[in-house]
Amino acid sequence: MSLLSVQNLDKRFGGLHAVKDVSLDVQKGDILGILGPNGAGKTTLYNLLTGFIKPDNGEVLLEGQSLLGLPPHKVVGLGVARTFQLCRPFVGLSVLENVMVGSLGPRVPAVDLTKRARHLLAQVGLAGKEDSPAELLSYGDQRRLEIARALATEPRLLLLDEPFAGLGSGEIAALSELIRDLHKNQGLTILLIEHKLREFMQLVSHVVAIDFGQVIATGSPSEIVKNPKVIEAYIGRQDADHAA
Ligand SMILES: Nc1ncnc2c1ncn2[C@@H]1O[C@H](COP(=O)(O)OP(=O)(O)OP(=O)(O)O)[C@@H](O)[C@H]1O
Ligand SMILES: [Mg+2]
Repeated sequence: MSLLSVQNLDKRFGGLHAVKDVSLDVQKGDILGILGPNGAGKTTLYNLLTGFIKPDNGEVLLEGQSLLGLPPHKVVGLGVARTFQLCRPFVGLSVLENVMVGSLGPRVPAVDLTKRARHLLAQVGLAGKEDSPAELLSYGDQRRLEIARALATEPRLLLLDEPFAGLGSGEIAALSELIRDLHKNQGLTILLIEHKLREFMQLVSHVVAIDFGQVIATGSPSEIVKNPKVIEAYIGRQDADHAA
């Protein structure tokens, strides 16, 4: 059975058909990439999977259990965590406290929460910044904090929304290594949305390409970069920044 099965998912915002009959399966141990131009519906898809918005149609199953109708915290409680395209630290809390809040869910035993949070911060490269107010972190560090906070919920499935956005090349390389480590050594199943194509293609095992809310291609990274529909929809239309 797939870890996550998305079936015929549909979402309209008024006249805009943002997600159109999207089906995909995520197997345990995958790093599945979601590729698509700006406005294709990628973040909307995450919002549908994690209970932030409700679909008009379709089904989302986590190991056979429907996630539809569950609020975000219940989805997290079942082992699906996400990061946000725009960082959302809890303002007024320290970096350490931000991660500890993530540990308050049902999946985490309420022992050694501080120690655990420190360990996660070290893992994402934020050791020494535990006491800083979260909102004072640099943009790159806020992205790391997002990941630490998601990991604190003990996810089985981690949804990353453009984790490399706004980062320099050294930071991207370090974060790529972290994602690889979470997958290989910690057995995490990952969904990755990212416009930085070189790093994206090196990380993912399969790709689902979306355009105008619809799946236009699926395949291995090497198949996807050669797919004419993907070249037309994505690579052909990207601005220089995203193609970099
Ligand atoms: N809550 C909403 N209300 C109305 N329209 C929305 C809402 N959320 C998203 N949209 C629209 O749905 C479309 C898909 O948006 P979405 O954010 O999912 O794109 P995306 O693929 O994540 O793009 P990007 O790569 O720029 O992040 C866009 O046209 C967007 O303006
Ligand atoms: Mg988006």
